[in-house]
Amino acid sequence: MPPRTNGLGIMPEDTRICVVMVGLPARGKSYIAQRAQRYLKWLSIPAATFNVGNYRRENAPRPSADFFDTNNAEGERKRRAAAEAAVSDMLKWFKSGGVVGILDATNSTKERRKWVLERVSAEGIEVIFVESRCDDEELIMANIRDVKTTSPDYVGQDPDKAAVDFRERIRNYEKVYKSINDDGDEDHLTYLKIMNVGKQVFINRIQDYLQSRVVYFLMNLHIRPRSVWLSRHGESMLNLEGRIGGDAALSHRGEEYALKLPELVRESVGSDRPLTVWTSTLKRTIATGRHLPKHYNQLQWKALDELDAGVCDGMTYQEIADQYPEDFQARDEDKYNYRYRGGESYRDVVIRLEPIIMELERSEDILIISHQAVIRCIYAYFMQKTQEESPWVPVPLHTLMKLTPRAYGTELQTYRANIKAVSTWRGKGSTAKHEDPAPEGGI
Ligand code: F6P
Repeated sequence: MPPRTNGLGIMPEDTRICVVMVGLPARGKSYIAQRAQRYLKWLSIPAATFNVGNYRRENAPRPSADFFDTNNAEGERKRRAAAEAAVSDMLKWFKSGGVVGILDATNSTKERRKWVLERVSAEGIEVIFVESRCDDEELIMANIRDVKTTSPDYVGQDPDKAAVDFRERIRNYEKVYKSINDDGDEDHLTYLKIMNVGKQVFINRIQDYLQSRVVYFLMNLHIRPRSVWLSRHGESMLNLEGRIGGDAALSHRGEEYALKLPELVRESVGSDRPLTVWTSTLKRTIATGRHLPKHYNQLQWKALDELDAGVCDGMTYQEIADQYPEDFQARDEDKYNYRYRGGESYRDVVIRLEPIIMELERSEDILIISHQAVIRCIYAYFMQKTQEESPWVPVPLHTLMKLTPRAYGTELQTYRANIKAVSTWRGKGSTAKHEDPAPEGGI
């Protein structure tokens, strides 16, 4: 069988990793797990999270803090059963083709870690422990407030009482918690310890390529508040003619958008905080960003250039349908995977955007001015769109999007410039006249 390819390059068929989260409650473990899963899935790596709390809720839906006291035999039994159910489902999932399984639980004792390691490695699956330690009271409190008062464990309860109970639960965990290798007898484990979500990291025995990619991603995560702004370039001369690709200048209305963009940005930032601006290397995105304040840092990335349409570059959709009817149909049937002759597919674009995503995770406020297909791929990462959906997402011209990562999911705000532009959205089966408005329900 030929080697399987994926977003991270070529990966041997049998690399499977179980990421075992470790840490006290309210230390951002679920946040980290979710982010890792989203990144891997975006890169087409089958990934899933198994949250032991969800299994535990099946036989202990709303337990109070004493359920988590290790002297509570009933509590101990149910918690153990939940861990077993989660691990056994995860192992089944690996058998059905899973590549990175994330076990989201506290795994806070050496015994529990030893048990997980034995169960999982017996199936030939590599284990990485990822511990989130946090002694920043403000972070912990924010986590308690944000996540736990909305947790299914406390539905319908007074949030203040819930917070008190939750603190008590944490204290019960603290009684038995052992940070990985604190006693020096877990040095054989592969692990990553993250302090205060990214301030400091310790890594031990990371071995192969996929492990190091996962670890590198987790090392770059941070939870400082920030947003990412996305905009397409202003309308271009080729947009007016309905031609794809090329390196055209802005139309008159595109120039108007460039002039209006600083105001839209100011309105959406809500302060004088400067942004860093990333454009592609094509004229139309650089021109769109040129009226932004001089003290904004600007950087051009080749990786942000529009999807390369190969032999179809510069053609209208109608011309493509006439000259390459089979290709035109094949693209509609599987737009994510269809690669233009001599050009790229959406899948290719995602792969070249991986360094952009990594850099975005490391950075704070960034404004990206790019192109329809590229914006769709970045949007899909943040908004968790599937490969079937993402190439069809309407991204109108002359519209600024603000994406703000939250504990669960990403918040989206849109700012329209109210400057007319052609629509470059094309529905399945149509050759688009580039005049119809994009369908409702998009961005
Ligand atoms: O029409 C504008 C454009 O940015 C083209 O340059 C590009 O080929 C196209 O959009 C990508 O959109 P789609 O994948 O829907 O054809």
